[in-house]
Amino acid sequence: MEEKQIEEILKHYSGKGTLPQEEIVEMLREIQETLGCIPDDVRERAAQAAQVKPSVVELIMKWYPSLKRAPYRHRILVCCGKSCGGRGIENYDWLKRELQVGNDGISADGTIKVETIHCLKQCKYGPNVMIDGKIHQAVTKEKLKKLITEIRGIA
Ligand code: FES
Repeated sequence: MEEKQIEEILKHYSGKGTLPQEEIVEMLREIQETLGCIPDDVRERAAQAAQVKPSVVELIMKWYPSLKRAPYRHRILVCCGKSCGGRGIENYDWLKRELQVGNDGISADGTIKVETIHCLKQCKYGPNVMIDGKIHQAVTKEKLKKLITEIRGIA
């Protein structure tokens, strides 16, 4: 049933040449509404339908936090770029330990996805972290603890 719906969505967006970003996002949203997330194989098929490289879809997935690779509830992007530097990496390591993040980047309880990013374009306020699309600046471990408690409270 779901496969049929996915096929219909992909067919709808296929054959129009290279799709603009807004249409790719729209297609990915429709897929997510059907499956609850956008799994690896479906992202590849979406790239084919949109006539773009898979890396374009991956980039869009990174910049639209509401688009999910797996059915987790929250997504945390930790900036480990040049300006956020070592403190960003410390925050990332702390989160991985605290949430028992596996190789797939998902917390042991399956509710939080943790990823790194190389710049959130707010360099002078770092280290920065984006949680469900909202940027938090000058993030310390204490601040992270508080933020995690908050999202777990609404999980
Ligand atoms: S390096 Fe972290 S916001 Fe730019």
